[in-house]
Amino acid sequence: NYYAIIMAGGIGSRFWPISRTSYPKQFIDILGTGKTLIQNTYERFLKVCPAENIFVVTNENYAQLVKEQIPGMADNQILTEPVMRNTAPCVAYGCFKIESLNPDAAIVVAPSDHLILDEAAFVATIQKSLETASANKCLITLGIKPSRPDTGYGYIQFTEQTIGEDFHKVKTFTEKPNTELAKTFIQSGDFLWNAGIFVWSAGAIVQAFGSYLPDMYEIFAEARSVYNTADEKKHVHNAYQQCTNISIDYGIMEKADNVYVLPSEFGWSDLGTWASIYELSEKDYVGNAVIPADKVIMYDSSNCMVNVPGEKLVILQGLHDYIVVESNNSLLICPRDQEQNIKQVVADVKQKF
Ligand code: GDD
Ligand code: MG
Repeated sequence: NYYAIIMAGGIGSRFWPISRTSYPKQFIDILGTGKTLIQNTYERFLKVCPAENIFVVTNENYAQLVKEQIPGMADNQILTEPVMRNTAPCVAYGCFKIESLNPDAAIVVAPSDHLILDEAAFVATIQKSLETASANKCLITLGIKPSRPDTGYGYIQFTEQTIGEDFHKVKTFTEKPNTELAKTFIQSGDFLWNAGIFVWSAGAIVQAFGSYLPDMYEIFAEARSVYNTADEKKHVHNAYQQCTNISIDYGIMEKADNVYVLPSEFGWSDLGTWASIYELSEKDYVGNAVIPADKVIMYDSSNCMVNVPGEKLVILQGLHDYIVVESNNSLLICPRDQEQNIKQVVADVKQKF
């Protein structure tokens, strides 16, 4: 009864210029491991559920990339979207389809672009969560101990009330707070980062759509007659045009009251921003992370993240707390604490070029 949905339709815009609309970061071997992020994600889930129970939801433009990178996946396991509407419709499509296949399903929904270092711990955590989600009709999210007031995450305030011993009842869920708020969350000590990995029974998530996103519920419930038929794709693609653009975090997790968090530790990094790569990278004694190291000369510079592949000689003089990244013939220079703005920059750049 265990199923997995891999969300792979985002464009990773905060990772510009390495991540591009035509080739988002989940399809890139961003850490040089020999496998792309989505390949690693798929292989982790092979240890959790049967291969035929793993689904990918992605934009139709990336379906070919998914097929090439995960040859084991059948066409009916690759759910395509005609337009980007963020993660709520993506979750609805996957979960309503699985529910129509198996009403007793327990489903893990995960991003395609995260790094997980301790795979055994990850697999054990997911299995335990799937069991708990099946036994209790609730929504489970995995929580990570926060290390900085990052504004790119959801913050989960947990209580001491538990089910299945370790699953704490969630008091509040705040998606992407501003810096001030994030700082108070970190100081208070009873907050975790939302890892963006969710586990629930098919029944519980379908019901949550009914309560909190009723329009979307109607769209995907109405499609029940076509899931797993030849009409599915056409029907769902038409339906997508009517979906609001909203993430599962804003749409459901912030509002639902039957949410539980499992504090988790499995060497997690959302490779979401340069800050996360910076944290993972080896740094010199003044905090510079330089990849590759041999063509960069630094004078009186500290806490910089430099990633300029190729032959170019790079010289930094008196630069502190900056990101310097070159890729695809584009150069980005940005203070480390302003990288969340890269998302907007990329939106502007796309219009201009
Ligand atoms: N199919 C599909 N369609 N997938 C999408 C879409 C879409 O329109 N938009 C995003 N995705 C995929 C991305 O490729 C990624 O794998 C995953 O869904 C999450 O989307 P992000 O855009 O990366 O979300 P985020 O990082 O801003 O925030 C989420 O993750 C954080 C942890 O990494 C939230 O869940 C936060 O609360 C959480 O802290
Ligand atoms: Mg992300």
